[in-house]
Amino acid sequence: MIYPIVKFGDPVLETPAAVVTSFDDGLKKLVEDMFESMYAARGVGLAAPQIGISKRIAVVDVTFKENPGAKLVLINPVIINKEGRQRSSEGCLSIPEFREDVTRAKTVTVRAQDLSGKFFEHTGEDLLARAFLHETDHLNGKLYISHVSALKRDLIKRKIKKLVKAGEW
Ligand code: NI
Repeated sequence: MIYPIVKFGDPVLETPAAVVTSFDDGLKKLVEDMFESMYAARGVGLAAPQIGISKRIAVVDVTFKENPGAKLVLINPVIINKEGRQRSSEGCLSIPEFREDVTRAKTVTVRAQDLSGKFFEHTGEDLLARAFLHETDHLNGKLYISHVSALKRDLIKRKIKKLVKAGEW
């Protein structure tokens, strides 16, 4: 099932999500739906709050379907290590049509649980590192625009307000 993507302005995006405690078939189905919704929206990462579900679940595929082995499911993820710096353009499915340069760590290790509840660690570089940070932020109710200057953030918010008024958001 493809869920619509929740857009900026919905409080669910700025609310810390709940820890997942039940690793059942419902969770498996939800993760499948999250991948389907992410691909339909042409994204490389999606957090459950972005489909209106306030749970600590994220899916990532920085190869966008090219390498099935690159599909990652992160349940209750925590960033345990960050190294180096990278700066490049970042966007979010919940803030469509906007992009800004964001400085992030270059190498990031995440600790998370898989669909069976088993803990694992995964280290990513560049885009994958960025995805780990961006999606984990989502689960903490934080959006990438919190990492840009107040000036740029206010500009984006003002533009979104206009779009809302025009019924285009
Ligand atoms: Ni996002």
